[in-house]
Amino acid sequence: MGAHLPAVLRRPAVLWTALIAALAAAVVTVLVVVPDDASEASYLDPEAPVAARVADLLGRMTIEEKVGQMTQVAVPAVEGVPSDIAELGIGSLLNGGSDALHDTAEGWAAMIDGFQTQAMDSRLSIPLVYGIDAVHGNGALPGAVVFPHNIGLGAAHDPDLAGQAAAITAAETRATGVHWTFAPCVCVARDSRWGRTYESYGEDPGLAVEYAGPVVQGLQGANLAANTSVLATAKHFVGDGGTAFGSSTTEDYLLDQGVTTLTEEELRAIHLAPFKAAVDAGVGSVMASFSSTDLGGGPVKAHADSYLINEVLKGELGFDGFVVSDWQGVDQVSEDYAEAVRLSINAGVDMVMVPFEYRRFIDTLVAEVDSGGVSEERIDNAVSRILTQKFALGLFERPFADTSGAGEIGSAEHRDTARRAAAASQTLLRNDNAILPLAADASIYVAGSGADSLGRQLGGWTASWQGSVEAVTEGTSILAGMQEVAPDAAITYSEDASEPIGDAAVGVVVVAEDPYAEGIGDAGAGEHDMRVSDADAAAIDTVCAAVDCVVIVVSGRPIEITSHLAPVDALVAAWLPGSEGAGVADPLFGMAPYGGRLPVTWPRANDQEPMNVGDEAYDPLYPYGFGLQTAG
Ligand code: GLC
Repeated sequence: MGAHLPAVLRRPAVLWTALIAALAAAVVTVLVVVPDDASEASYLDPEAPVAARVADLLGRMTIEEKVGQMTQVAVPAVEGVPSDIAELGIGSLLNGGSDALHDTAEGWAAMIDGFQTQAMDSRLSIPLVYGIDAVHGNGALPGAVVFPHNIGLGAAHDPDLAGQAAAITAAETRATGVHWTFAPCVCVARDSRWGRTYESYGEDPGLAVEYAGPVVQGLQGANLAANTSVLATAKHFVGDGGTAFGSSTTEDYLLDQGVTTLTEEELRAIHLAPFKAAVDAGVGSVMASFSSTDLGGGPVKAHADSYLINEVLKGELGFDGFVVSDWQGVDQVSEDYAEAVRLSINAGVDMVMVPFEYRRFIDTLVAEVDSGGVSEERIDNAVSRILTQKFALGLFERPFADTSGAGEIGSAEHRDTARRAAAASQTLLRNDNAILPLAADASIYVAGSGADSLGRQLGGWTASWQGSVEAVTEGTSILAGMQEVAPDAAITYSEDASEPIGDAAVGVVVVAEDPYAEGIGDAGAGEHDMRVSDADAAAIDTVCAAVDCVVIVVSGRPIEITSHLAPVDALVAAWLPGSEGAGVADPLFGMAPYGGRLPVTWPRANDQEPMNVGDEAYDPLYPYGFGLQTAG
């Protein structure tokens, strides 16, 4: 090598000096080029392709950090020890049930940003993703617009309108610092006695197929990183709406979390098709179902169903987002917790909604990896799916809340969309002597438990898991809506019809279910019996015996009403119309048409369920798809 050097460099002292200088330069170059853990790493480069960022970050993570990313924790479990978030590299937080933890966007943002600060203090500064059940508007935020629950949107037969509602829901959710909603439920309710019937678009899978795409796209928007977009969740995979009455594996429930017994062909046609639509629309997450399917070989818990998750959802349908468990859903897989974790993760669950004993989960899964029960390849795949959505959400660039859109929460424009959705969902089932629409200056006697009860209009998943008769958010009751829409009408209100009817020309009796959610609402499980309450039945008898009368039903599903209908001239299914009660009043006074059509069969008696369109023995009070029209 020396023969090619110029003469001056062939002197030993000069040569050594040159060599040392070259070596020093090389060392400095290596130091500058090789990124340290969190300063020059390519996963932090927003211009790098997401796949490269994921691969780079994954390559830097320990197994403990990877498992931390697969861990979702409920706020009450960690708010006392927020440093656990940084120490364990927790990947996600949630608060279940749409609980209204804060009553302002800023309050929510401050809480979430506090937890996010902890996450950003983790070794690799991986941000949290925070999820809530914003399933019909941001029900967790008093003052946000609340849309009709899905069954009402299904009655409207207007997927585009549902997409508009989803986009508003997303904007009013992301503006509070929340990144992810556990919606839409693309469940297909086949037995209306199910406490989650109202979360379904209806008994016909074609409805859920039609709605899944527009709603997912409404929630996720064109850019998941936008401050008006949230990550969506198609749930609950798969067959949650097909369980048999009495098959529930959960104490005190009858249908919810039960067993769906059918052929694989039926499962695909009825319950899987909406998930294909959601996946094709780019849904970023899917939630596993508490229920089980029995395709002939015995019940298999959905959380542990490798064929349906790994082979069908991720393989055949090409789902590249992540699968999140339901609330302690992994625990239900086996009494042996290690086995439950192993079976669920190997079946394809990527993130576990633990949501309390998160150290036990992390320790158990790490031990399973150490023992070979779960491969590191499986862990890497799960974490890659989770990180991909976090990069798409823009969380690495903007980990903290952007509340700049908070001023639009509950805006007149948003409420107008909710009012239109409520009006479009109204389903006219009887209109003898064409007494509807009512005259704007009519003399009206209003009664019933649902007339002036915002809480009953809203239903479950509103400010709390089960909802509440005493509303805890802003909105307009049906009575107030009637007064707003027909200010010249002479309206007398008496919930129990104890006031004199006087010279009223027509009566409006609004009967209602009290709010419920999940299996607690399973008809016959407890207080919710899917029938007209005694008080509302008495109000019907009193008012309808005296004058022409309209009965409006505020409910999450059809209710058994046949024996009360003799004196009733007009009957309207209002479903759970949400915060804008004027939307119920609009078609009542002809300010909008009645156009809703039944998204579920309306039985003569509850024990006719399950009864669905296409059944051979099909003798309902009103058939699927039925609805009278008015001009409006
Ligand atoms: C519930 C529900 C699920 C919800 C989750 C978080 O148990 O099954 O729909 O998203 O827990 O609240």
